[in-house]
Amino acid sequence: MPDTTTLAPVSPLSHRLLAMNESATIAMVKKARELMAKGIDIINLSFGEPDFQTPQYIKDAAKQALDDGYTFYTPVPGIPELRQAICDKFKRDNQLDFQPNQIVVSTGAKQALANAVLSLVNPGEEVIVFAPYWVSYEEMVKLAEGVPVTLVGTLENEYKVTAAQLEAAITPRTKLIMYSSPCNPTGAVFSREELGEIAEVLARHPQVYALADEIYEYINFVGEHASLAHFEAIKDRVITVNGFSKGYAMTGWRLGYLAARQDIAAACEKMQSQITSGTCSIAQRAGLAALRGGRSSADEMVAAYRRRRDLVLDIVKDIPGFNTPTPSGAFYIFPEVSAYFNRLAPDGSTIATSMDLALYLLNDAHVSAVSGDAFGAPECMRFSTAAADDKLVEAFRRIKASLAKLG
Ligand SMILES: Cc1ncc(COP(=O)(O)O)c(C=O)c1O
Repeated sequence: MPDTTTLAPVSPLSHRLLAMNESATIAMVKKARELMAKGIDIINLSFGEPDFQTPQYIKDAAKQALDDGYTFYTPVPGIPELRQAICDKFKRDNQLDFQPNQIVVSTGAKQALANAVLSLVNPGEEVIVFAPYWVSYEEMVKLAEGVPVTLVGTLENEYKVTAAQLEAAITPRTKLIMYSSPCNPTGAVFSREELGEIAEVLARHPQVYALADEIYEYINFVGEHASLAHFEAIKDRVITVNGFSKGYAMTGWRLGYLAARQDIAAACEKMQSQITSGTCSIAQRAGLAALRGGRSSADEMVAAYRRRRDLVLDIVKDIPGFNTPTPSGAFYIFPEVSAYFNRLAPDGSTIATSMDLALYLLNDAHVSAVSGDAFGAPECMRFSTAAADDKLVEAFRRIKASLAKLG
């Protein structure tokens, strides 16, 4: 019998869980909230959340749904009217043809992404994640016991991965690629031409699927939104994810969806049926109203996001060492900040990493941002521009002053 009293305690937690990192965005928000609870005036630019209220007509539909008694379980992949409305939206906005049985409505786009990863990826299979990436992609791949392969776009190409880079990264073990366009965190938008080149690469590798995250579709300052599912030769291998959080300012409602080949959609439905079932009945009625109302409410918000982007870019161009590409969509700026590494803070500590810099800005400027490590770009930092104009001006004034104190 081993003497168990002398053995180090073994964690009861699964290897799968232990291999996963906590969401860095959520961790930073937690730190910011702790300081706010102490009465410190923190400007929070770390969250990926619209600062707009959900449009009134959508709220009204939710109230009506309650009054009409929509309080029961729904079908796992969503109510039929909403699945049809999502098909209509794909047709209207993206010229894509889907049948309702190809749509799975989920608890946020996040669950749609997780459903797809867990349904497709076997242990040991490689998933090519275009970087800078959204924080949860690689952690979802690890949860599926897949192997994340990070493919980093260059600053010169607005951080967009090229078809040639993709071709070079594909191996016989590659199962999936994952990316967002418009991209969180960089705001880069793939053009139809660029996606066409990526589609050509995928056409040569029939074992590779693509998870296209289009959650920021409506928050686009360059006009055209292109979908990978548009390309005939590979459309059956593309899973398109979208949702209501960003375009309709509905983060708290937890409503997203995916569209995929019917057998893949059925697999995602099966996955969801054992974990959460159909998402909230009231949120689904609200989502139906949102889609039927078109996208004009989103267009109003986009005008504000564009104005704020321009406002912030105008300020940061005067901050030395902030190398900031112009975002074409979403609501973030993602400067390259490595000029501040190996500098001395007023307390004598050295700023070695983007995380050190984020913590310094939180404690000194009282502005919270997220270090680039969480996005696969350790020399960068993400600032949300989804805040009121005066808050943004004040935040970057403080940041500039704090950075100027570094020795
Ligand atoms: C790129 C990206 N995909 C997916 C999501 C998740 O969206 P949802 O709130 O619908 O789960 C987010 C949210 O921040 C995101 O930025």
